[in-house]
Amino acid sequence: MGGVERELTRARGAAPGFKVAVLGAAGGIGQPLSLLLKMNPLVSTLHLYDVFNTPGVTADLSHTNTSAVVRGYLGKDQLGPALDGMDLVIIPAGVPRKPGMTRDDLFNINAGIVRTLIEGVAKHCPQAIINIISNPVNSTVPIAAEVLKIAGVYDPRRLFGVTTLDVMRANTFVAEVIGVDPKEVNVPVVGGHAGITILPLLSQTSPLFSFNSKEVEYLTNRIQNGGTEVVEAKAGTGSATLSMAYAAAKFGEACLRALQGETGIVECAYVASEVTEFPFFASKVRLGRTGAEEIFPLGPLNSFERALEKMKAELQGSIEKGVNFVHKPK
Ligand code: NAD
Ligand code: LMR
Repeated sequence: MGGVERELTRARGAAPGFKVAVLGAAGGIGQPLSLLLKMNPLVSTLHLYDVFNTPGVTADLSHTNTSAVVRGYLGKDQLGPALDGMDLVIIPAGVPRKPGMTRDDLFNINAGIVRTLIEGVAKHCPQAIINIISNPVNSTVPIAAEVLKIAGVYDPRRLFGVTTLDVMRANTFVAEVIGVDPKEVNVPVVGGHAGITILPLLSQTSPLFSFNSKEVEYLTNRIQNGGTEVVEAKAGTGSATLSMAYAAAKFGEACLRALQGETGIVECAYVASEVTEFPFFASKVRLGRTGAEEIFPLGPLNSFERALEKMKAELQGSIEKGVNFVHKPK
C-alpha cells in the first residue's frame, strides 16, 4: 500500500483487518460476495479481479459506507497486483452450468482458468488461504494443489474447496422437515461437491432427530440435487449465485476469524485428507491460524451413510482428472 493510500485508509478510520481478493468478482457470485465482504468489519482491503467489468463493480461498491478499501483489477496483466499481499483469496471465476449439464461438463473451461489463477497465487501471495468455488470443485481443488506443488509452495492446510452451500441447503431442508429455525440446525455434509459425492450425515444432525427412511431418501436427494434444482429454475441463465455468495461469505469469515486467533471454529470443507481412502474429501475441519488444523473423522455412520462405495468411482475419477490435467503438456 502506498503512503497516500495508507493515509487515506487511516483518515477513513479503517480498523486493522485482513486483505481479501475475489477472483471472478464481476460474476453472478462474485458481485454479491464482494458486497458481503465489503460489509465485513474483518476485511480492511478488498481486491476485485476479473477479466470483465471490474472498474464498474469497484466504483459501485466503493460508495458503500464501510471502512474496507476496495480496488479493482482487470485482465491478466493486473492479476499480480490484485494478489500481492493477500491473506485470503476466494475464487468464483469460471462458467456456470446450464440445464442438462453436469459440473464435470465445466471442466474443459474452468480447469485452465483455475490453473492460471492459482499460478498467480503461488507467485504473489503463497501464504494466502485459498477458497475455491469454481466447479467442478472435486477436480479444481486437486488442480490447485498440483499447481502449488509445482511452484514449491503447497501447504495443504491452506487450500479449501468451498462446500458450505451443501451444508446450508442441508440445514434449510432439514429445518423444514423438523419444523425449526434453520439457524438452529447443523448437518455435516461430507464427500465432495457433485451429485452422489455429496453425502449428508443426517444421523449426526444437530439437534438430534430420528428421520424415517422416506425422510432420509427425500432429504438426501434434495441436498444432492440442490444445485440442479437452481440450474433448472434459472432455465439457462446460470446456477446458484445469491445462496453461494452468502455461503462463501460465511466460510470466508470463518477463515478470517480463525486467522485472527479465534478458537473452536469447525466447518465442513473439501480438503486434502487422510480420513478416507480419497486424497481429497469434504468433512468437518477445525480452522486455525494456519488453516485446516484438524480434520475430524466421519464419526459413526448408519448403513445408508456407509455407502461411500457408491461415490468411489466418481470422486476418485474427478480427483485423478484434475491431477492429470496439470501434468499433461499445455
Ligand atoms: P458467472 O459466469 O456469473 O461469473 C463468473 C465470472 O468469472 C465472470 O465474471 C467471468 O468474467 C469471470 N471469469 C472468467 N474467466 C476468468 C478468468 N480467467 N479470470 C478471472 N475471472 C474470470 O458464474 P457464477 O454463477 O458466478 O459461477 C462461477 C463458478 O462457481 C461456476 O463454475 C459455478 O459452477 C461455480 N459454483 C460453485 C458453487 C459451489 O458450491 N462450490 C456454487 C455455485 C456456483
Ligand atoms: C451448486 O451446488 O449450486 C453449484 O455447484 C452450482 C451447480 O452447478 O449446481
